Amino acid sequence: MEFEGKVALITGSGRGIGRAIALHLAERGADIVVNFFRNRTPAEDTAAEIGKLGRKAIVVKADIGDPDGIERLFAETELAFGALDILVCNAASGYNRPAMEQRVKGWDWTMNINARSALFCAQHAVPLMQKRGRGYIVNQSSIGSQRVLPEYVVVGASKAALEAVTRYLAVELAPLGIVVNAVSGGTVLTDALKHFRVLEDGSILGSGAERVPAGRMVMPEDIANVVAFLCTPAAEMIRGQVIVVDGGYTLTVH
Ligand SMILES: NC(=O)c1ccc[n+]([C@@H]2O[C@H](COP(=O)([O-])OP(=O)(O)OC[C@H]3O[C@@H](n4cnc5c(N)ncnc54)[C@H](OP(=O)(O)O)[C@@H]3O)[C@@H](O)[C@H]2O)c1
Repeated sequence: MEFEGKVALITGSGRGIGRAIALHLAERGADIVVNFFRNRTPAEDTAAEIGKLGRKAIVVKADIGDPDGIERLFAETELAFGALDILVCNAASGYNRPAMEQRVKGWDWTMNINARSALFCAQHAVPLMQKRGRGYIVNQSSIGSQRVLPEYVVVGASKAALEAVTRYLAVELAPLGIVVNAVSGGTVLTDALKHFRVLEDGSILGSGAERVPAGRMVMPEDIANVVAFLCTPAAEMIRGQVIVVDGGYTLTVH
């Protein structure tokens, strides 16, 4: 198995896309650091599933919007595994409301969790990856970084910042043998969609399967597949890119 003996830390991996990534990397051999913020039970469940796959998992409660939380997350990772091969910055939060209703508190909250965390997680990850002589970082963006979605202004700005951080890290960490990229999903079927308003026609953000050229919604496993690929030698020459996984949704004019 290609990730056997490797250690992967996925932020926000108790639920949703993060959980799918954690399970996928474990299926392919990796030991996993499961991180959560508020919901311990799903994180414990994810770790139990990883255990059933014959892989090791630790569960770490840490708020990645808080630099102290990030420090503890990586300290516990080092204590348990000694080193790190893969970091997936997946966790996100945000205040969904129109631009004119946004407040400074919501901006700071969203930016710190979605964008600032990636830079400071990388700072802590690099020394652990240097113990291996190489490493992979994948950041989880969204199409709202480029396109305008309803009530998404602050999250969209945070994802644009995250994509910029991805490019800088890709260049600055390349000499250390660390490959950095981002994945950007279309509308992915997870609990996160509950935070968006259902439109009058019953669709969510007008992004139903009928508008996806590939003919179906993106599933968390679709994202996990691409994240895993970006962590293999086959993707070695992809650096600082944002790989869109949306079934072609953003290609067409709606
Ligand atoms: N769903 C979509 O349509 C979609 C589309 C494109 C991109 N994405 C991106 O994919 C990623 C995952 O999305 P999702 O749909 O799986 O989200 P989700 O179901 O809302 O899950 C969010 C995850 O982030 C964790 N989290 C939130 N704030 C945190 C913090 N301060 N510290 C640590 N963990 C924190 C949550 O942990 P707790 O459970 O402990 O709170 C949870 O595991 C996000 O970056 C999102 O922007 C999602």
